[in-house]
Amino acid sequence: MAILFDEKKKIFYLHTKKTSYIMGFLEEHLVHIHWGKRLNEISSIEQAVPFRRRNFSHYTAENDQICLDNIPQEYPTYGNTDLRSPAFHAQYADGTTITAFRYVSHSIINGKPELDGLPHTFRRDDKVETLDLVLFDEKTKLEVHLLYSVFEDKDAITRSVKVVNTGDVKADIKRIMSANVDLFGKEFDVISLCGATQRERYINRSPLTFGEYRVDSKRGASSHMRNPFIAVASKYATEDVGEVYSMNLLYSGNFTADVYVDQYGMTRMGIGINDFDFNWKLDAGETFQSPEAVLVYSDEGIGAMSRIYHDLYRENLCRSKYAMKVRPILINNWEATYFDFNEEKILEIATKAKKAGVELMVLDDGWFGKRNNDECAMGDWWVNTEKLPNGIDGLAEKVEALGMKFGLWFEPEAISPDSDLYRQHPDWHIQVPGRTTHLGRSEYLLDLANDEVCDYLIDVIGNIIRSAKISYVKWDMNRNMTDIGSPALPADRQRETAHRYMLGLYKIMDALTSEFEDILFESCSGGGGRFDAGMLYYMPQTWASDNSDGINRLLIQYGTSLAYPAVTMGSHVSAVPNHQIHRTTSFKTRYTTASMGQFGFELDITKMEDEEFEKMAECIKHYKKVRETVQFGDMYRLLSPFEGNYAAWQFLSKDGTQVYICCSNVLAVPNGPYNFVKCRNLEPDAIYYDEDNDIRMSGAELMSIGLPHLEIRDFDSKTYFFKKQ
Ligand code: GLA
Repeated sequence: MAILFDEKKKIFYLHTKKTSYIMGFLEEHLVHIHWGKRLNEISSIEQAVPFRRRNFSHYTAENDQICLDNIPQEYPTYGNTDLRSPAFHAQYADGTTITAFRYVSHSIINGKPELDGLPHTFRRDDKVETLDLVLFDEKTKLEVHLLYSVFEDKDAITRSVKVVNTGDVKADIKRIMSANVDLFGKEFDVISLCGATQRERYINRSPLTFGEYRVDSKRGASSHMRNPFIAVASKYATEDVGEVYSMNLLYSGNFTADVYVDQYGMTRMGIGINDFDFNWKLDAGETFQSPEAVLVYSDEGIGAMSRIYHDLYRENLCRSKYAMKVRPILINNWEATYFDFNEEKILEIATKAKKAGVELMVLDDGWFGKRNNDECAMGDWWVNTEKLPNGIDGLAEKVEALGMKFGLWFEPEAISPDSDLYRQHPDWHIQVPGRTTHLGRSEYLLDLANDEVCDYLIDVIGNIIRSAKISYVKWDMNRNMTDIGSPALPADRQRETAHRYMLGLYKIMDALTSEFEDILFESCSGGGGRFDAGMLYYMPQTWASDNSDGINRLLIQYGTSLAYPAVTMGSHVSAVPNHQIHRTTSFKTRYTTASMGQFGFELDITKMEDEEFEKMAECIKHYKKVRETVQFGDMYRLLSPFEGNYAAWQFLSKDGTQVYICCSNVLAVPNGPYNFVKCRNLEPDAIYYDEDNDIRMSGAELMSIGLPHLEIRDFDSKTYFFKKQ
């Protein structure tokens, strides 16, 4: 049993194989007791939560010892003796903002209920139990369900919160965190994933100190700049040792991840929808469901934390048929042609790509309406027959006839002011009438808080997909949300727009990915502007960044891998000088970096010299050998590009028989120091053989001595592929 309730001591135990999450009641208050290493039993709450009255405490007349400010809370609300930031804050019809949830009941469910309209993890073959803990506020008649699902073998716990207004007057929810944890101590580092466009998800680690640390997005997307991931780790935590407490939100819109150190050195961490500019009107009888948060604790370092996320996301989050299937190697025409292509050119690329062993030809932006540049035609989803005289179906047929699959790009959420769609529906985009609506890449965002718009998109995109032999869809979104308002919503629901947009988007993606379950979907947002676990539920891979430079991508992919597995990261070899940052790197190095993800190409191979074309074919052959290990094996980060000149990764197949190692360096160091890449988790006595490099070593040697990593020139790299003998 993963979930136990000790009636006598009033304690809940949520156990995974290696961890425990424990909470209980101190009088009527739900307090947090422990999240960490497996702990089968607590002697008493009083012992575990040493509360006492302190100076400047506040208390009730009946009990002057309990002040919630001094005690770790499970789901703190506003309006009691806890004066820190609450997890829940609402305003009621009488204008007041105080909530006092008290225990009503609980149930333990075998399995995991779905979250209505939101992405969520699910049970595949594993043991999963769910605790539904029901609390109630007598005065306002709000009922709250704290939902905890325990993935016992995966060592992960998911949380979400559902609020039901059982009264007869409305309430306004102002803040609703999906998870909150109060930890004793503050001797932590905080780790987040921050960056910018073309520099997504760089690792950001700093000492935690008194005050508040917040990583959030107010951009209507999870964003390039911040990712809905947060961790606090012991100061000595490395890839292999130390404690890490982490949270990742399954949500693609405005989020906040907050870490707060209080006056007693207690750390409160939480994650949820951003409360900034958020208000949700909950009428009598209505329910609000928060997005799901995944909580992972590891006492075996940051690497072990990542491997838990990777396993959970591959098996229990990506619901696509492709979740556990080897993914095709693709070629995308974007950086090869931009808008300047026709059927002949695409077929020329496809024909040559097929010869090299590519499996999927993807036609990117520019195939519809009058879209010959990025200033117009978003929303005009009909084929441009000047470029493609035989239509998408004709082109798809010809690509299929080559023995390849065909894929197509869409940006369904956008609308150009210069488009027929806009001329027909000037009120269909996010806007505040009477105010300037700002452009982003010459486009607005369609108002997905409007059901009519969502239904239209399901219809129009569905019709195109149905009309041709399409095996892959790239779903792009190229701006953030500004001037937030929905012409479809009444005044008192305007602050629901950004979240309703996400619900609309999830509804559209749910409809299309369910109907077209044989299609592989890849999401994208100007590169990696919406690389989050919410999108992965519907679409099992994401274009990690528009920056395809083989060196910058080391950082992007290294950071991304903190929470997301390699198989979810679209990663391509592109031309040199690189189109984003103009760096020239060797084909080998671009391949080494791209081979650590979901591999493909994005360059004009029709212009390739024979010698380079041969290299391309060799890389494809090589990736086909290693891809199962990369996509479904365990990833070990060996050297961090954030800490020096080198980056190295190891992928170990689940059965332990194949080991793929990628080593890269940034600059050459003349007569540089000796540097070894030491492998992880191999069998010490087993012999491993790398045919490509003709190296035979024992597991013990590979782990203790390692492989020499000596840079010869700038931006160099080397790969090894060992098989256990
Ligand atoms: C975004 C994507 C690119 C490409 C272009 C097309 O920038 O990230 O990969 O699809 O749009 O306009």
